Amino acid sequence: MDIYQSSIRPILFSALKADPEWLHYQTLQLLSWLNRTRSRPPSQWVQSRLQQAYCLRNVALEQTLWGLKFPNPLGLAAGFDKDGVAARIWGNFGFGFAELGTVTLHPQPGNPRPRLFRLLEDKAALNRMGFNNHGAEALARRLEQGLQVEEGLQVGKLQVESSNQPSNLQRSNLQPSNFQPITIPLGINLGKSKVTPLEEAAADYLGSFRQLKDLGDYFVVNVSSPNTPGLRSLQDAAQLSLILEALQQENNAQKPIFVKIAPDLEWDAIADVIKLAQTYQLAGIIATNTTIRRDMLKTQIIQATGKPVSEEAGGISGAPLRQRSTEVIRFIYQQTQGTLPIIGVGGIFTAEDAWEKITAGASLIQVYTGWIYEGPWMVRRILQGLVHKLEERGLTSISEAVGRED
Ligand SMILES: Cc1cc2nc3c(=O)[nH]c(=O)nc-3n(C[C@H](O)[C@H](O)[C@H](O)COP(=O)(O)O)c2cc1C
Repeated sequence: MDIYQSSIRPILFSALKADPEWLHYQTLQLLSWLNRTRSRPPSQWVQSRLQQAYCLRNVALEQTLWGLKFPNPLGLAAGFDKDGVAARIWGNFGFGFAELGTVTLHPQPGNPRPRLFRLLEDKAALNRMGFNNHGAEALARRLEQGLQVEEGLQVGKLQVESSNQPSNLQRSNLQPSNFQPITIPLGINLGKSKVTPLEEAAADYLGSFRQLKDLGDYFVVNVSSPNTPGLRSLQDAAQLSLILEALQQENNAQKPIFVKIAPDLEWDAIADVIKLAQTYQLAGIIATNTTIRRDMLKTQIIQATGKPVSEEAGGISGAPLRQRSTEVIRFIYQQTQGTLPIIGVGGIFTAEDAWEKITAGASLIQVYTGWIYEGPWMVRRILQGLVHKLEERGLTSISEAVGRED
């Protein structure tokens, strides 16, 4: 047990009963500060400490997929950093990639609070956030500014390197000598604005994609959140094809585009999505989003509202989702004989959970709820565990483990 699990989590979750959304907001505020000031020494000092604590580099975990270099297969799932306020910080927590969003064309406040609940007994969360976000334009502006900071950093470095005697001003630009910023692939997850009618969904996704297409390394069409009325009906082949057609027409740089699906789809419907993914030459499928099922939960009453969990709207994430999302991954992998890459997400807490997803067919995996419960050391623990599993089996690369169920 680390200090997060033995002290911080019990204090925050059980003793103080800190509101999950408040806690999330405070965390993001801090990370946003680190992100904005990341070229300055105090932030770089913090970042180098984070790297020492949380990062694990191992060549066996590296993969190049869709022309992108992933230092490891474990990413941050969509929903944590919807507005990309900490976009360039996630690599310092050991993640191999991070998915920003869901972002919508129009800024929107999301559903009324409370809308995020911890289900401690189940190691799960229930959320009905409803795509609260500042909109695609704001994300584009933030990411563009971020790129300028990065370029500034490069220029600063060159000036210092090319000058024999740096001025005091240049000296103050010097980074701590042991600090190396970590760059990881950034995905952007797109959703439909609540105000946009379902029939106009394709134009809405396209509007966001136009503004962001040069700023993300990959893109996700999110048609699987249970918290926007009717959104999941966009998983139907007829509706989804309109969206994919529109995006691929606009996708002149051939950025990897994924579709993220719900765990509650029937096999037939998943098979339809697979066909579409092949027709529109998608990079792959993200499986899965949260579930609307409640039958597997131990929790009966949501403490914060006093209502039965069956009466509370929203999607369940975390441990209760693990098995179903793995089944969906396995189904996609088997149907496509491994030809369509899968990003696996749902209920990963341990290296065993991660291995289960990878060997079922996921080339990359993501976490959200597990990170909240297990704390920031979770990433390193999982990566270390994956390295051990590779060694035990005499494998030299994580890519050899994909779909290799024994
Ligand atoms: C509070 C919360 C907000 C989420 N928001 C989004 C979102 O905006 N877009 C999305 O595609 N998935 C969202 N998700 C789903 C996660 O990305 C992930 O698919 C799901 O939680 C399963 O993974 P987990 O069990 O590791 O949490 C959210 C999940 C949680 C818990």
